Amino acid sequence: MQAEVVVVVRLSERHLGNLERALARVFPEDYRSIASYIRCIFPRASPFSHVAESIKGDVVGFVVSILEDRWTGHVLYLGVIPEYRRRGVGEKLLCLTLLDLFKLSSTSKVYLEVSTENRAAINLYLKLGFTITRLVKRYYANGSDCYIMTLLRATYEERIKDACIKSLCQGLDLQSQLSSL
Ligand SMILES: CC(C)(COP(=O)(O)OP(=O)(O)OC[C@H]1O[C@@H](n2cnc3c(N)ncnc32)[C@H](O)[C@@H]1OP(=O)(O)O)[C@@H](O)C(=O)NCCC(=O)NCCS
Repeated sequence: MQAEVVVVVRLSERHLGNLERALARVFPEDYRSIASYIRCIFPRASPFSHVAESIKGDVVGFVVSILEDRWTGHVLYLGVIPEYRRRGVGEKLLCLTLLDLFKLSSTSKVYLEVSTENRAAINLYLKLGFTITRLVKRYYANGSDCYIMTLLRATYEERIKDACIKSLCQGLDLQSQLSSL
């Protein structure tokens, strides 16, 4: 695919319709319930969540996160529509949400759930310093297992934050709203 400008911006209410269309491409089986859930938690999620928009204004990627309590961030949903994968969009989205979540001095860790079979996502999380901290058997409705993966603040500060900032500044075809830095 020809290089195209993708802009990463904070999730706002105006994105919710286009976000649902992107969710339908990434999580076709349960996108309706995910979209309803995101609308419910929108006030909690919006300070930590971002969308990647194509030049036409379509949402091509998203990350949705919340703070569960003062100490714990939770990445709930991350996805990039198939045609925009392997261009660094997922990594930039995850970097932005980590910058937001760890900006609060009391956040000591960020965690997420990932299917044990999802090699692409596991590789991305390992690359950004997450480690597998637990296996939960039959976590998903289809009976498959998940890993809980966790990133501690110390790891983030030592070797991930600078790498994230560098990743966000790289890529001539991608502009990011770096308000979190
Ligand atoms: C996981 C996902 C968000 C990655 O998005 P992406 O924009 O394609 O990822 P990036 O191009 O930013 O890749 C960043 C890193 O992720 C890993 N990665 C991404 N796709 C991969 C693949 N197909 N195979 C192996 N590793 C992969 C690599 O470590 C890559 O780093 P590298 O380019 O230095 O090798 C995307 O594949 C997706 O939306 N999948 C379906 C939804 C999903 O699984 N969400 C996560 C649920 S927990």
